[in-house]
Amino acid sequence: MDLRFEGKTIIVTGGASGIGAATCDELGASGAVMIVADRDLAGAQAEADRITGAGGKAHAVAVDVGDAASVEAMVRFAVDRTGGLYGLVNNAGIGGRIAPTGEYDLDAWKQVIDINLSGVFYGMRFAVPEMVKAGGGSIVNVASILGSVGFAGSVGYVSAKHGVVGMTKNAALEYAQKGVRVNSVGPGFIHTPMVDTSLDKATQDILNGKHAMGRMGTAEEVAALIVFLLSDRASFITGSYHLVDGGYTAQ
Ligand SMILES: NC(=O)c1ccc[n+]([C@@H]2O[C@H](COP(=O)([O-])OP(=O)(O)OC[C@H]3O[C@@H](n4cnc5c(N)ncnc54)[C@H](O)[C@@H]3O)[C@@H](O)[C@H]2O)c1
Repeated sequence: MDLRFEGKTIIVTGGASGIGAATCDELGASGAVMIVADRDLAGAQAEADRITGAGGKAHAVAVDVGDAASVEAMVRFAVDRTGGLYGLVNNAGIGGRIAPTGEYDLDAWKQVIDINLSGVFYGMRFAVPEMVKAGGGSIVNVASILGSVGFAGSVGYVSAKHGVVGMTKNAALEYAQKGVRVNSVGPGFIHTPMVDTSLDKATQDILNGKHAMGRMGTAEEVAALIVFLLSDRASFITGSYHLVDGGYTAQ
């Protein structure tokens, strides 16, 4: 049992950027057949090209995870192209609007719930039957520290991420004896385009101080946990929520 994934097909949604791209890089270098899925098809193709350029195997596919039919087509693409499906990382997400609950824009609420919550459900809904058919598999849902604590101004994001932690437990119970493990991860604030392009330096300095380590994490530090949970090394781990937060929630 090791961290190799020779010949195993793994879909990563949001694979064009940040945590998703770092996860694709590591899985691609570990022998997996990567399906890089993103609404940014050019970005997904660039990531797939990077993997193949480094000697790995990868395909790019366009998906909008907030749209059930699009997610179903993504899973079909993976199975038709590669002959099966072992893993899924439900990673695609958006930060959502920042406003207090009493002023939160209704369309912004629907958008963040569609992508960050329903998108994870759709991924499991269409991938799990393929994994059961294949005799097993592993799913990692990317939640957040905001899947267990609140963050003023982010009711949509916080609600979606708490929901992801819950649906992870539910699916894990349902498929534990059918060979499919389902776990979630809870990253602290991570340097990716989501954070680096939307938060000014002063806000980032405040957020650095909220992590016991005094800094935000890197996409690679999150990818390392995701890859471990996908692997056979994590064979007795299912239904759990794993923090990778530099001590943010310890204080
Ligand atoms: N960066 C952080 O601080 C942080 C912390 C905790 C959790 N997360 C979570 O990690 C995940 C990845 O975030 P990131 O920081 O790497 O962000 P990012 O913005 O760098 O990457 C997100 C990717 O998701 C894609 N995407 C967005 N909406 C999509 C949709 N509807 N369909 C398909 N693809 C879509 C984007 O095109 C992009 O490539 C998200 O679920 C996010 O909530 C991030």
